[in-house]
Amino acid sequence: MEPIQDINILDTELRRERAQENDAINTDDLDRPKMAGHETTGARQVYIETYGCQMNVSDSEIVASVLENGGYGLTHDVEEADVALINTCAIRENAEQKVRRRLDMLRAKKRKRDRPMMIGVLGCMAERLREKLLEQEKRVDLVVGPDAYRDLPRLLHEADTSGQAAVNVQLSKEETYADLSPVRYDSNGISAFVSIMRGCDNMCAFCVVPFTRGRERSRPVSTILRECQELVDQGYKEVTVLGQNVNSYHYTDDDGTDVSFAELLDRISQVSPELRIRYSTSHPKDCSDELLKVHAKRHNVCNYIHLPVQHGNTEVLDRMRRTYSREQYLDLVDRAKALCPGISLSTDIIAGFCGETEAQHQDTLSLMREVEYDHAYMFKYSERPDTYAARKLEDDVPEDVKQRRLEEIITLQRSISEVRNANEIGRQHTVLVEGPSKKSDAQLCGRTDTNKMVVFDREDYEKGDYVNVRIVDATSATLMGEALGRTTLQEEAERLVVG
Ligand code: 5AD
Ligand code: SF4
Repeated sequence: MEPIQDINILDTELRRERAQENDAINTDDLDRPKMAGHETTGARQVYIETYGCQMNVSDSEIVASVLENGGYGLTHDVEEADVALINTCAIRENAEQKVRRRLDMLRAKKRKRDRPMMIGVLGCMAERLREKLLEQEKRVDLVVGPDAYRDLPRLLHEADTSGQAAVNVQLSKEETYADLSPVRYDSNGISAFVSIMRGCDNMCAFCVVPFTRGRERSRPVSTILRECQELVDQGYKEVTVLGQNVNSYHYTDDDGTDVSFAELLDRISQVSPELRIRYSTSHPKDCSDELLKVHAKRHNVCNYIHLPVQHGNTEVLDRMRRTYSREQYLDLVDRAKALCPGISLSTDIIAGFCGETEAQHQDTLSLMREVEYDHAYMFKYSERPDTYAARKLEDDVPEDVKQRRLEEIITLQRSISEVRNANEIGRQHTVLVEGPSKKSDAQLCGRTDTNKMVVFDREDYEKGDYVNVRIVDATSATLMGEALGRTTLQEEAERLVVG
């Protein structure tokens, strides 16, 4: 699943600090507008902090919904909280370390306070570290896995009355939280995540997700469409459809039709012509031409795909158990570029996987040059417990070599992004305004259909407007533009057809 850009609900400084700590370079996030935030008052106040992927952000919205229904209030200020919940990520070693440091900070805060605060660990670390968190480290009052969020009110009550830690890390084959209306705890009111499936059956050799999030299951079509319609009714302009591998979404509808991801996307695109649709993450092995055709046919399905390659060498891809070769991946990229002219691609890349030779590393660099990604999330391989790689392969690339290869990958991507962004100068894009730019209230920022962040003068434009913007300058991370006027997605689609 897309990284997975350490999205969290804290302020810019903390985000910046986290991005610097991360082994992935993701300057994107730093230009995103500060979130408005949803707050309510209940019998007791809950603070939620989210680490890891977009799916975790979406899960925190489910948690917020369950707790609000259970009579709890929501706060963004940990000082006000009676309960502090950390929604955790286990994808890489350093993600876990970050959470541990944060738990230490929270426990120190708890000791200094004159009123009690319960601390809970949710999400991917919960299952794996349950015993450690509870017994050895005595760090927390509550441990709840990703499929047990409905049980939160009961568990909080149990922890409160018994004075003992409460635990539920049971994984489920059915739970999709389909009937719950997520509470947009950390939303800008314009873009929302809609989760369409949970878990993953792929078993990539390096990945802990199938162990922490369980088996793949798809959510009923009607509940997804209903959620999208509700978002439109509330004024949202963009949804990002989420799953660990959205391309393997399948659901048998009430009338017996099998709904594939391409079909689902097509149906979502018809909820409103003014709702933009993105999705994440797409596994190359099942990215079909049918899906690419939906991008081409529907003006509101963004011309952008996050298509994680992980590596540029077929032998390494085999060891990673990705089930496609370099050539098959490049062939898919060619088809995407042919069927969807101007499509923007991003990727995930792992440096220093087990047995990676210098020549194989060079294959990753050459594949990046060939594809010309607009953006990449780049990681050093870190061995995760229980995975195929941990059990069967040797983590034998020395740390300094991994680091050097990662740096080469990052440097190359930066120069590709720089050129790709410089090519945008003079072009026009429809930008969905997300809010004021980080650096100045006199400027707004928002993304193009191709997922590039653009900053331009505020004038009288507002959050939620679609604005026609001409690009006048660019860095490797951001485009600078001048606004040409308000527009609609339909108007732009017609202009392109006529043009
Ligand atoms: N080490 C490094 N990167 C990893 N990812 C997943 N597991 C690991 C690991 N053990 C990366 C992959 C995936 C993204 C979400 O995180 O690139 O696509
Ligand atoms: Fe993505 Fe593979 Fe991990 Fe599944 S096992 S979440 S497809 S990287």
